[in-house]
Amino acid sequence: MSFILPEIDDYLKSLSGPKDKDIESVQLAGQREEIPIVDEEVGRFLSLLILTKQPKKVLELGFGGGYSSLWMAKALGEGGMITSLELNTDRVDRGRRIFQDLDLSPRLQLLYIDALEYLQNTTETYDFIFLDAIKRSYARYLPLIPRVLRKGGIFLADNILFRGNVVKTDPGKKYQAGTSAIKAFNKTLSVSCDFKTIFLPIGDGLSFSVRV
Ligand SMILES: C[S@@+](CC[C@H](N)C(=O)[O-])C[C@H]1O[C@@H](n2cnc3c(N)ncnc32)[C@H](O)[C@@H]1O
Repeated sequence: MSFILPEIDDYLKSLSGPKDKDIESVQLAGQREEIPIVDEEVGRFLSLLILTKQPKKVLELGFGGGYSSLWMAKALGEGGMITSLELNTDRVDRGRRIFQDLDLSPRLQLLYIDALEYLQNTTETYDFIFLDAIKRSYARYLPLIPRVLRKGGIFLADNILFRGNVVKTDPGKKYQAGTSAIKAFNKTLSVSCDFKTIFLPIGDGLSFSVRV
């Protein structure tokens, strides 16, 4: 999904440089097996933020095909660790195999758990949180983030434009609930005193917040 002119999109993609073969292979596998994964530019952006900030503790809400985890894992510095949460057991098993094959298991703790439940109960705090779970629940995640994200920590959420549905008067029955939830999430995040935020038209839309 891209919200910019196709020729500009193609031009920007032509500047993306050589591909990492592991990352490309996980991307292709996700597409082939119809497992939802982030857009390539979202993966790239996450990786650059991780490289810049060098967080020690990263929390991902929604592991899916492991594509965003892999972008982040490859950018993590010494002692950095990603905790990624996933409700689908097949995806957890598949993800553990992928990270083992790539010798990246020490950088990933992949947990089979409901992310909302985890956020409510954990005593851990994180430097960096990436939300990419079910869209209908987005608004429920937001109030739970400040308690587990340290001050100065980064919070990103994918799909904040939800295929452009956020600006449609009628997104259709299939996307109605997700669109309402994403719009509520965006609105609340935009005025929240806990975060400074920018909403970026990268991939399917990405919010980028710092906890203040
Ligand atoms: C869009 S995918 C994540 C894609 C991933 N970021 C990637 O690039 O490969 C969303 C995932 O979140 C999982 N999910 C949805 N709700 C969840 C919840 N409450 N707790 C944990 N995982 C959840 C889904 O099973 C799905 O695999």
